[in-house]
Amino acid sequence: MVQVNGNYLKLKAGYLFPEIGRRVKAFSEANPTAQIIRLGIGDVTEPLPEACRQAMQAAIDELGTREGFHGYGPEQGYLWLRQAIAQNDFQARGAQVSAEEIFVSDGSKCDSANILDILGEGNRIAVTDPVYPVYVDSNVMAGRTGNADELGRYAGLTYLPISAENGFCAQIPSEKVDLIYLCFPNNPTGAVASKAQLQQWVDYALANEALILFDAAYEAFIQDPELPHSIYEIEGARQCAIEFRSFSKNAGFTGTRCALTVVPRGLMGKAANGEAVELWALWNRRQCTKFNGVSYLVQRGAEAVYSAAGKAQVQALVHFYMENAAIIRRELIAAGLEVYGGEQAPYVWVKTPAGLDSWGFFDRLLQQAHVVGTPGSGFGAAGEGYFRLSAFNSRANVEEAMARLRASLTN
Ligand code: MLT
Repeated sequence: MVQVNGNYLKLKAGYLFPEIGRRVKAFSEANPTAQIIRLGIGDVTEPLPEACRQAMQAAIDELGTREGFHGYGPEQGYLWLRQAIAQNDFQARGAQVSAEEIFVSDGSKCDSANILDILGEGNRIAVTDPVYPVYVDSNVMAGRTGNADELGRYAGLTYLPISAENGFCAQIPSEKVDLIYLCFPNNPTGAVASKAQLQQWVDYALANEALILFDAAYEAFIQDPELPHSIYEIEGARQCAIEFRSFSKNAGFTGTRCALTVVPRGLMGKAANGEAVELWALWNRRQCTKFNGVSYLVQRGAEAVYSAAGKAQVQALVHFYMENAAIIRRELIAAGLEVYGGEQAPYVWVKTPAGLDSWGFFDRLLQQAHVVGTPGSGFGAAGEGYFRLSAFNSRANVEEAMARLRASLTN
């Protein structure tokens, strides 16, 4: 018989969102008339912006002609999209990122896992707790950890606890680590980091020759103009950070798939013999071998995000979801719960009511209110006692979910 990758056998239970799906399916089969409202997985609900749809339709028509047909595109993405991203997302904010440093992809989740392909085995890895589970699971799958303990913490990883006490922004580690995962605005807690806080991380990384993997998938939801959207707004970050971005949440591309990873030129790692190696060259090599690019029509749709109409439509979408977040916050606070996040991010992080752990609250809300959220413990041991609600849904569903939730909490 063929041997399997034994690292997969170290993984705890199922991936969080399929596990939620399994429980919801079981509940809805047992209660077929229940109108379930899903505020669990952060999947968008509102239609694709018109500018993106028009661009995709035009691209389809173009592909239907001999002159306009496109086969394989560049593995790194079309230059016109990379240029639009570099100018609008980075240079316009004073971040020095060039088109060449942008790799267009089909998702930040995939890239944040795939990046391990170009990183060595001996790195000491730091993740926050709670954390987006992909960072941990992908390291387990790649054999970069030992086994999990009874709390689900893997040997070999450095866990940096985040909580209300530290504003959900991890303390700089006292020991030396080589690889640090940061996500701001944060999934799951909705917390943000100031420029000064990110500067501390960049200074730490430079001093320790560490690499920061910076997940900025939710940057579009930042409302406070003082907050940084990119790690490259921070001095020194080009020498120590890779950034992941996505069109999924701001422009509704969770189904159509388009994202990007920035690997600055001159960002170095080292080979086993100590020789310095450029990470850009390795990522480029990896993408050329294992990836064939995002479809032409989806890249045309993504390019339209940067047109005048596209910008206005995306801003309206973000505004819509942030109004949902404000409603969720208001209602949870009125119900007497301790609430975090939801002001610069589409996630609201709430302390579970006394006597209920994360999955206990999940089950109670599902059974009594027919509302689905995400148990905080699914994001790590320190997420126990918390619960995440996503602002991605229609206004009617958010209002109805909150009315049911309040009724359930006051029963
Ligand atoms: C989430 O709910 O945490 C997100 O949907 C995860 C993702 O974008 O992969």
